[in-house]
Amino acid sequence: MSGAFIVFEGIDGSGKSTLCKRVAETLGARGIPAVATAEPTHGGIGAIIRSGAAGPISQETEALLFVADRNDHTERIMESVSEGVVVLCDRYFASTVAYQSSGLDGVAVDAEWLITINSRFIDRPDLVILLDIDPEAGLGRVDSRGEEVSKFEDLEFLRRVRSSYLDLAERFGFRVVDASRTPDEVYEEVASIIRGVL
Ligand code: TYD
Repeated sequence: MSGAFIVFEGIDGSGKSTLCKRVAETLGARGIPAVATAEPTHGGIGAIIRSGAAGPISQETEALLFVADRNDHTERIMESVSEGVVVLCDRYFASTVAYQSSGLDGVAVDAEWLITINSRFIDRPDLVILLDIDPEAGLGRVDSRGEEVSKFEDLEFLRRVRSSYLDLAERFGFRVVDASRTPDEVYEEVASIIRGVL
């Protein structure tokens, strides 16, 4: 079987990470080589972004760091795909476009510029699934997990992120899944969409 590159997108609390891992485990159990990965990555540039080690930086600089992290990550992803692995990636280029264009701290980066800087460094995924959920419900989940709330997790901001994601879904043909349902219901729909591309 040939590999595939499948991306999960959505606001914080949409259930991407759990779903990504569950799909990887299920495929693995069926004898299909699959790995779950995520952006920002946990090494190199991704670690710099996560730790805040770059210091106070502009939104543009932060966007460039996300893209730099993605550039190296994409190389590793495509290598695995060429070896027949199904790579399930938690966030990819749409995260940069949706988040960095949504005006965190009142500074919105131009969405078209964000698409342009990404386009030089990304590979087109075989499938992008957008887990769509109202930010209020999403943040409720983050809260109930007892996780630290990051600077990106502000209600008004996430409403703009959600809306940007929905625009991108239409423009780039993402599959939009209603993530407000139970984890099993969401999983069943996602699994059926993935079966259609493998
Ligand atoms: P997240 O998926 O929440 O990682 P984790 O659950 O491991 O902490 O990503 C961290 C935050 O980074 C999230 O709020 C969205 C933000 N982000 C961007 O703003 N732009 C990007 O390009 C990416 C990949 C993430």
